[in-house]
Amino acid sequence: MSKLRGRSQVIRRPRRLRSSEAMRRLVRETRLSVDQLVYPIFVKPGQRIHEEITSMPGQYRFSIDLLANEANEIAELKIPAVLLFGLPEEKDELGSGAYDDHGIVQQAVRAIKKAVPDILVVGDVCLCEYTDHGHCGVIRGESVENDESLEMLARTAVSQAAAGADVIAPSAMMDGQVAAIREALDEEGFSKIPIMSYAAKYASAFYGPFREAADSAPQFGDRKSYQMDSPNIREAIKEMELDAEEGADILMVKPALAYLDVIQAARESFELPIAAYNVSGEYSMVKAAARNGWIDEERIVREMVTGIVRAGADIVITYFAKDLARKLK
Ligand code: PBG
Repeated sequence: MSKLRGRSQVIRRPRRLRSSEAMRRLVRETRLSVDQLVYPIFVKPGQRIHEEITSMPGQYRFSIDLLANEANEIAELKIPAVLLFGLPEEKDELGSGAYDDHGIVQQAVRAIKKAVPDILVVGDVCLCEYTDHGHCGVIRGESVENDESLEMLARTAVSQAAAGADVIAPSAMMDGQVAAIREALDEEGFSKIPIMSYAAKYASAFYGPFREAADSAPQFGDRKSYQMDSPNIREAIKEMELDAEEGADILMVKPALAYLDVIQAARESFELPIAAYNVSGEYSMVKAAARNGWIDEERIVREMVTGIVRAGADIVITYFAKDLARKLK
């Protein structure tokens, strides 16, 4: 046996499978598909409004009359679902715009389902965009009252379902919200509507740009008494267990990038589909760096979303959905 032969038997050569793009495609372990994507949309009152969100370049607030156009574009890109956020005409203490049958999101759901019946419309169920104090529930003094908020959240879910929403996504982080919403939906004849629960939602600085987009920053204090403390992962499993028991059909982890371990743990602990929300701050940081010419946006986006999927997410909610869909077509 020659020396050379001996050595070639010893060296393992993983590089063989990286030799060309065709080879790499063949052995790729994680594949992105447009089927996994959900695109968030912001809606506001008015006519012919298509205004760029300063903190989120490339994302817009739409008035209802321009939604059909946008929904058609999203459907043409084969993105299966949109997630709706509304900026109401007026805010009040009890967030009544959230459960108004003619509220902004209810109108938006009707407009999108009319224009593109096949697209899934997911309704974000929370009060923070609708309350004058900007908290996700009802307040007494400076405290966000859990059980009183459940009724408002349940009414919001029912009114979105009645408008035609296909999926209900509660994001207020009130204890028992999934059970309260499930019960109300079932009572009102919406037992077929699934709940995608923001189960492990952390109190995160990554929501900064969204709060400008949706005008939903809390007017006093912060959300730390209801959203999760970021160092915790066992608590995330507990939150997800509770939501699964309460009847959630899909469990969400939010944000995504700083919580890939939570996504992985969710995937390993549950059989339900796992969604991850690639949030506004994760979007805006990429946009800002790309605008400065410091990173290659297209490659960064692909690498980021691949990481989220590799960690275990089945569904990725992302402001990059349209950009990605164009490349994945
Ligand atoms: C509503 C809600 C928020 C986001 C989604 N739903 C804001 C918050 O909790 O403060 C954030 C989404 C994003 O940052 O992209 N509660």
